[in-house]
Amino acid sequence: MNKLKIILIAGARPNFMKIAPIYDEIKKHQGFNPIIVHTGQHYDENMSKIFFDQLSIPKPDINLGVGSASHARQTAEIMIRFEDVLLKEKPGLVMVVGDVNSTIACSLVAAKMHIPVAHIEAGLRSHNWNMPEEINRILTDRLSDYLFTTCKDANENLIKEGINKRKIYFVGNVMIDTLLKNKELAKKSKILEKLKLRKGKYAVLTLHRPSNVDSKENLTKILETIEEIQRQIKIIYPAHPRAQKQINKFSLIDQIKEMENFHIIDPLGYLDFLWLMMNAKFVLTDSGGIQEETTILDIPCLTLRRETERPITVTQGTNVVVGNNKKKIIEESLRILRGNFKHGKTPELWDGKAAVRIVKIILEKHL
Ligand code: UD1
Repeated sequence: MNKLKIILIAGARPNFMKIAPIYDEIKKHQGFNPIIVHTGQHYDENMSKIFFDQLSIPKPDINLGVGSASHARQTAEIMIRFEDVLLKEKPGLVMVVGDVNSTIACSLVAAKMHIPVAHIEAGLRSHNWNMPEEINRILTDRLSDYLFTTCKDANENLIKEGINKRKIYFVGNVMIDTLLKNKELAKKSKILEKLKLRKGKYAVLTLHRPSNVDSKENLTKILETIEEIQRQIKIIYPAHPRAQKQINKFSLIDQIKEMENFHIIDPLGYLDFLWLMMNAKFVLTDSGGIQEETTILDIPCLTLRRETERPITVTQGTNVVVGNNKKKIIEESLRILRGNFKHGKTPELWDGKAAVRIVKIILEKHL
């Protein structure tokens, strides 16, 4: 039997937990010859390697080593280097996940070479064209031959955009596959001891979106809000390198140091961060994935953005979209501290088996 050569693209931190279960599942079948390509978009040890190690993803077969640059330069460099990979490897399928620059860059190269593209986490829409991720998502979906979705509203978004129904498959959430698989393992983390934290006695903050951290005015406003909340509860902020850079650039570090109950730390590995979330009173975030993870963990989540591409986490989960409105963020935080918050319901098919469904569909269609 001819094996299907399939290239899995991993570029940035949120990609790694999504390719892990797919790689695991692919390995169970004889019919595949998988190749992992890391674009090098994220390269720091704690933004990349630690995830490969903890999630048992093998070392990438190919690393394009592109590193950081402006959007155009980074995307273009990935495209140039990935074209050579496709010319040499001639895969039968390229699989991309999420909405980062690596996702659109590799999809575009593959589509132009008439190599089928599978997009995992298709159809999410924030309807905010100022987000680079929204542009990446829409274009990747347009280029894809298989569109695997996490929820039914994503199917509706795609159909509204004129995508052929036959290409769309509602399969569930691969990131939740990884979370469910690792929940037990996370208990071994020593992060609470290391940071001297007690279950339910702290909140977690993550903040890295350009809209929040690239403008001094917005970042200062959020920090003023955090200043008020940390009077009520300790806040731990594992800060993305982008955010750390902006905090230094805007000389905000002294202002932060004055807050006794607010602690900035370096980004954490998967298991430490999962354990930190699992024991938190609540989470404040501008991440996409964390809105979904907190819904499954039944931990209250306040999303510091004006909108979400993941509305199911609001309608069925623990998520409340609070924007950057100081009054609203403080009000919602205090409400949670009083014990008054909504509980999460598991969205349909977020059951740990999304990767099994994806691989089954590809096997049926492709081999
Ligand atoms: C990218 C994704 C974003 C995702 C985020 C998760 C795009 C457009 N954005 O944003 O959707 O939510 O990853 O982390 O693809 N840097 C380092 N070390 C690294 C990686 C980055 O120091 O390993 C610094 C560099 O200064 C770099 C900056 O972070 O310029 C931004 O990195 P980049 O990959 O451009 O975008 P992210 O903000 O990480």
